[in-house]
Amino acid sequence: MRLAERMKKINPSTTLAITSKAKKLKSEGKDIVNFAAGEPDFDTPDFIKEEAISAIKAGFTKYTPTTGIPELKKLVCEKFKKDNGLEYSPEQVIVSCGAKHSIFNTLFVLADPGDEVLIPLPYWVSYPEMANLCQATPRFIRTELNNNFKMTAKDLEKNITPKTKVLILNSPSNPTGCVYSREELEVIAKVCVAKKIFVISDEIYEKLIYDGKKHSSIGGFNKDIYELTVTINGLSKSHSMTGWRIGYLGAPKEIAEAISRFQDHSTSNPTSISQRAAVAALSAPDDFSKKLCEEFQKRRDYCVKRLASMKKLEVCVPQGAFYIFFNISKTKLDSNTFANRLLDEKYIALIPGAGFGMDDYCRMSFATSMEQLTKGMDRLEEWLKQ
Ligand SMILES: Cc1ncc(COP(=O)(O)O)c(C=O)c1O
Repeated sequence: MRLAERMKKINPSTTLAITSKAKKLKSEGKDIVNFAAGEPDFDTPDFIKEEAISAIKAGFTKYTPTTGIPELKKLVCEKFKKDNGLEYSPEQVIVSCGAKHSIFNTLFVLADPGDEVLIPLPYWVSYPEMANLCQATPRFIRTELNNNFKMTAKDLEKNITPKTKVLILNSPSNPTGCVYSREELEVIAKVCVAKKIFVISDEIYEKLIYDGKKHSSIGGFNKDIYELTVTINGLSKSHSMTGWRIGYLGAPKEIAEAISRFQDHSTSNPTSISQRAAVAALSAPDDFSKKLCEEFQKRRDYCVKRLASMKKLEVCVPQGAFYIFFNISKTKLDSNTFANRLLDEKYIALIPGAGFGMDDYCRMSFATSMEQLTKGMDRLEEWLKQ
């Protein structure tokens, strides 16, 4: 079949292969410990569900304005101001079907075919594929464990070429959990302003930061970087709403206007019912995400302690998000072999680092119960000793 040329470069999601194998084993009755989850294991809070049910009953089931209902956009503006020091007016805010959709829309309106998109490595699996879908070229900036996988301004400068158009930043990061400080982002911002590079700042894990560390939003530092930055966020992780598909962005007017036009002719509005649920979520105090964060910090502490005691692994201690990225080179296995053998022999599902650009690492998620974490850690320890 003659599919479009652009699809030749698009890889299937690497996280999917291992999770579908785990699902199959589970359906065969195997006692699978799932360390592969990309979503909080908590249910969406009831007050949010209730609002969605009321919306359905009241017949709020039709098209809405493409970029979101005014009430929700106003709340997003207030959130950006309160949490991030970012001043956006409602016409600068676009609500979309998840943060993934917001990032794709942004890349689509910013990157021309042949433009280079800078992506720190390891990266979230979808960034390079989104660049490929836009027929732009992903260019990776390798980062190191000894700097907690954070890109420095020097690393950035070295990778800028005349074709560089966009930098994608992700703090807290998936898969490493690294969190950039304000000072680190300020020097990065200076380079982007000097070289006129757009920044897509993916802040979806903003509410999950540990040890009292603070989140910084690069777009809020000064007018120059504000004019180049699109700030991405959403409710998937902060409110355990992955299935509701609500993400949003704040952008300079011209960019927001282009994204609005693009969304007009692609998906139109995000689901009306989910938008009402999002209004409930953003109107309430942050209690739910605080509770989530406290619980995740306990789990992170437990897992880091257990992994650090396993001599064959080297651990990057995450400061945010709900993943631990650890080095497996001492096992002399590549990440796919490591993950597949662990699944076949010990029924533990985790994600091979190859999908994030690092074949000598694996990513485990601690978005599962303490009971499961303990069981999984015991099995992993036993397996590594063998
Ligand atoms: C770094 C990162 N950005 C964006 C997303 C997408 O979030 P959403 O579910 O809102 O599309 C994810 C989801 O796993 C993620 O890990």
